[in-house]
Amino acid sequence: MNVLLLGSGGREHALAWKLKQSRLLNKLYIAPGNAGTMHCGENINVNVNDFAAIRETVLKYHINMVVVGPEDPLVNGIRDYFLADEILHTVPVIGPSKNGAMLEGSKDFSKAFMQRHHIPTARYKTFDNTSIEEGNRFLETLSPPFVLKADGLAAGKGVLICKDIIEAKQQLKHILTDQPFGSAGHKVVIEEFLHGIELSVFILTDGTKYILLPEAKDYKRIGNNDTGLNTGGMGAVSPVAFADAFFIQKVEERIIKPTLEGLHSENITYTGFLFIGLMNVNGDPYVIEYNCRLGDPETEAILPRMKTDLLELFNSLANGTLNTIKYQVENTTSLVTILVSGGYPEEYEKGKVITGLENIKDATLFHAGTIFKDNRVLTNGGRVLALQVSAPTIEEARAIAHKNLTEIHFEKVYFRNDVGMDLLKYQK
Ligand code: AMP
Ligand code: GLY
Repeated sequence: MNVLLLGSGGREHALAWKLKQSRLLNKLYIAPGNAGTMHCGENINVNVNDFAAIRETVLKYHINMVVVGPEDPLVNGIRDYFLADEILHTVPVIGPSKNGAMLEGSKDFSKAFMQRHHIPTARYKTFDNTSIEEGNRFLETLSPPFVLKADGLAAGKGVLICKDIIEAKQQLKHILTDQPFGSAGHKVVIEEFLHGIELSVFILTDGTKYILLPEAKDYKRIGNNDTGLNTGGMGAVSPVAFADAFFIQKVEERIIKPTLEGLHSENITYTGFLFIGLMNVNGDPYVIEYNCRLGDPETEAILPRMKTDLLELFNSLANGTLNTIKYQVENTTSLVTILVSGGYPEEYEKGKVITGLENIKDATLFHAGTIFKDNRVLTNGGRVLALQVSAPTIEEARAIAHKNLTEIHFEKVYFRNDVGMDLLKYQK
């Protein structure tokens, strides 16, 4: 099969790396890709939201399947675009339709969906610029900290956690009147703050049947011990020891099954990945958010544990035979550390030369924000590289990661060195 993979981050390099190992793969194309994906296939300089250019690429390279990495093309309706096209409709797109992707594309939609289907989540209300006063009154019914979420896609920056009510009221007014998030902030969801420990759960589903992928924990803050600003993710670990069989069973019964039944009852055909961001509140799972794609950096942690051929898995999804696939996961610990540009998640510079890539041992290096230029690998984003290690325990994985992390150099490189430490206490 010829496969076109859309995206350019660490998640996409991990997907490309896994697809390249498939016995069903003929040729892999990645649009636009990065300096890592070019070793798994051919990078094509096409934007993930340029559907007309993607159409041409599919025809030119005789593509048999399109795998969508990031959320934007899904929320913009790439699956619907293919289904409506008289030639492209036979080419499977791995990812949900526009109405399914609304679970990520609109926080107001997803919260109302959860409420309709009795799926555990934080108490909330939605406000717009005609209801700021009501919003202020709702804030007064909650206790700090206060959680404000821009309704639409805001490149991971749309969630504000405010320590006190004055700041929360100011931010509510700011988002709705000054519109720093553009149309994504025309509505704001205000919700109760959930206290607990976070977990990312993933399924691959055809809308009815589903495969539960390995879970992962994401390290979102820039600093060690979860301090400082929120980022796209500074590391990940899979499996997550506190997510034992009993907890996962609660997730399936209280969240996954009602979500799929809810989608079905609302005539939303959901196929592809569903990523459920959860809070474990005293042993009970609550949904923080849905995403219509895999997580980054969680993907870099979970795919190395998957023994099943990924393209076979995608094929069975497209053919409606997900229930017949032999799905297997490795029982190892997978630990990912992200190397970022100094300054990230605020301003940072690009174009720094990366050296030491060839010194990596007993680990896999996925590229995120990199570009190959004039025969050198340069930094090209905030999150630059993802170092992945598989080992029997977190301690062993951390030791191997540490040795490798000091081998990679670029100006102002930064990474967290506590990834996985908080999970040691749960290890049996
Ligand atoms: P999101 O962009 O929806 O992933 O939110 C970013 C982060 O904000 C989440 O990963 C959580 O750490 C935090 N967060 C979002 N909603 C809540 C909530 N209701 N309670 C506590 N933390 C939250
Ligand atoms: N790591 C969180 C996300 O991909 O949204």
